[in-house]
Amino acid sequence: MAILVTGGAGYIGSHTVVELQNAGYDVVVMDNLANASEKVLDRVEAITGKKVPFYKADIRDREGLEEIFTKEKIDSVIHFAGLKAVGESVQKPWEYYDNNITGTLTLVDVMRKHNCKNIIFSSSATVYGNPAFIPITEECPKGQCTNPYGWTKSMLEQVLTDIQYADKEWNVVLLRYFNPIGAHKSGTIGENPNGIPNNLMPYITQVAVGRLPKLNVFGDDYDTPDGTGVRDYIHVVDLALGHVKALQKLEPGCGLSIYNLGTGVGYSVLDIVKNFEEANGVKIPYEIQPRRAGDIATCYSNADKAEKELGWKAQFGIREMCEDSWRWQSNNPNGYDA
Ligand code: NAD
Ligand code: UFG
Repeated sequence: MAILVTGGAGYIGSHTVVELQNAGYDVVVMDNLANASEKVLDRVEAITGKKVPFYKADIRDREGLEEIFTKEKIDSVIHFAGLKAVGESVQKPWEYYDNNITGTLTLVDVMRKHNCKNIIFSSSATVYGNPAFIPITEECPKGQCTNPYGWTKSMLEQVLTDIQYADKEWNVVLLRYFNPIGAHKSGTIGENPNGIPNNLMPYITQVAVGRLPKLNVFGDDYDTPDGTGVRDYIHVVDLALGHVKALQKLEPGCGLSIYNLGTGVGYSVLDIVKNFEEANGVKIPYEIQPRRAGDIATCYSNADKAEKELGWKAQFGIREMCEDSWRWQSNNPNGYDA
């Protein structure tokens, strides 16, 4: 039996495929390559020494999904596929709702027709909105999202919750990621955003490699120790390992579970700049800019539930996150484009 990884050519997906193969799982990847390069999979194969069966397909394409579920023996799905650019989602809400929601509804429908009712879903700390309390536990109520991307995550959590409630054969794990950064130690796979990066770490690494002149720091007047936004950065390999642990939890009768995947530690934007500079001996020029619309001051997790129930805890610290992000970017200044 194999694990289907949707969006498996993407940033988190590719790192998860490595850890799944290392743990001995058979993996099948599907991705429409909307935000990924097929070259990623060659690099994954070079890391693990195992073949990665790949289908170029869209989660909205029922026939494409049917083909995969007919040809492969899929036991469980780890569902990463989705569009994720917050700003773009404000400009293109229909495209985001169609891709993420129609796509997931189609996927889940094909899964149940093939009697595959185990799913791990990539959710996000964004579902907490402006969190009611910090550190955020899974008990924290969901909040108002500030963009359509966030709403797709919040709505899909509800969709999967309702489906599991109605049919107890479903086993569902919702994983709420905090801020993934870093890259595989080999420096051969990593985050490769299209165009100008939205997220902090790829922006910093592109400044470091000379593709961008300086970092814009969005706001220094938040109620945080240095006035800049505080987030819970988590190494992408730790996040990937969280999926391997969650898979072990997907047993008949396990029902629905929700876990935060974070480190429990908050770092400000300027902390990240300083740690990156110290870890890598590279200077990151920056300029303070006004706050970015939709940002909150502080967001970090309490991830004790994942430790208690899954036996998972993040291992990598901020220095390794910074070193590994830089190793990837400096070895691949243009990402997967040679
Ligand atoms: P990513 O863009 O690198 O990976 C997503 C992958 O899905 C891409 O390879 C893309 O080509 C593919 N895809 C998109 N739409 C598809 C479709 N209709 N059919 C098939 N494939 C499709 O992003 P990532 O950072 O690896 O994120 C993976 C998942 O985790 C996403 O669902 C994202 O929303 C979620 N998430 C990411 C973060 C983050 O900060 N990176 C935080 C919280 C949650
Ligand atoms: N920031 C800058 N300059 C930049 C980019 C970001 O100062 O060029 C700041 C932001 O203002 C924020 C912090 O760096 O304070 C982190 O910003 P990111 O864009 O890297 O991450 P966010 O916390 O805004 O959002 C990310 C993902 C969301 C996900 C969320 C989950 O983009 O998809 O984490 O916590 F939902």
